[in-house]
Amino acid sequence: MALRSIRKVGDPVLTKHSKEVRKMTPRLEELIDDMLDTMYEAGGVGLAAPQVGILKRIVVVDVSPEQDDPFILVDPQIIETSGEQTGYEGCLSLPGKSGVVKRPEYVKVSAFDRNMKEVEYEGQDLLARAFCHEIDHLDGKMYTEMMEGDLIDNSELAEMQEQAEREAQEAQDNQEEEPRTI
Ligand code: NI
Repeated sequence: MALRSIRKVGDPVLTKHSKEVRKMTPRLEELIDDMLDTMYEAGGVGLAAPQVGILKRIVVVDVSPEQDDPFILVDPQIIETSGEQTGYEGCLSLPGKSGVVKRPEYVKVSAFDRNMKEVEYEGQDLLARAFCHEIDHLDGKMYTEMMEGDLIDNSELAEMQEQAEREAQEAQDNQEEEPRTI
């Protein structure tokens, strides 16, 4: 296992279509292990092979709080979507930035695992978002292409979220202070 360097926006590899894997090899297994290490080290919830310069249809995703429950998807395809979610999204290839992207609320993905066994995974919320985001990388697409509005700095986003939390807390406090009437 080893860390690989993450390609950043502007690197042409991020705009290219990745090729189907079809057959697992020791070299690709090593790539998967390295992608997991690299994702965890960078603090991301997903990573696609082209982000480490390899144009193969492989992605890893882990949205678990302990970052110990990864999905490994080889030749993934989104086979079902429903609903809609709009929220901020970031990418390890564009560090420190976020933008608003509309994604399905639910997706079902078919893929192969690292043993090339056929699998199906369902995701909602962040997991659905991560599946879509990573699979887009395999087609050379960055979230910035479908973003609503402008990129913002993550520090600015953190401030906005803190402000929203303060306001929500204040609203709750005010409500609690109101005398109860029957
Ligand atoms: Ni990304």
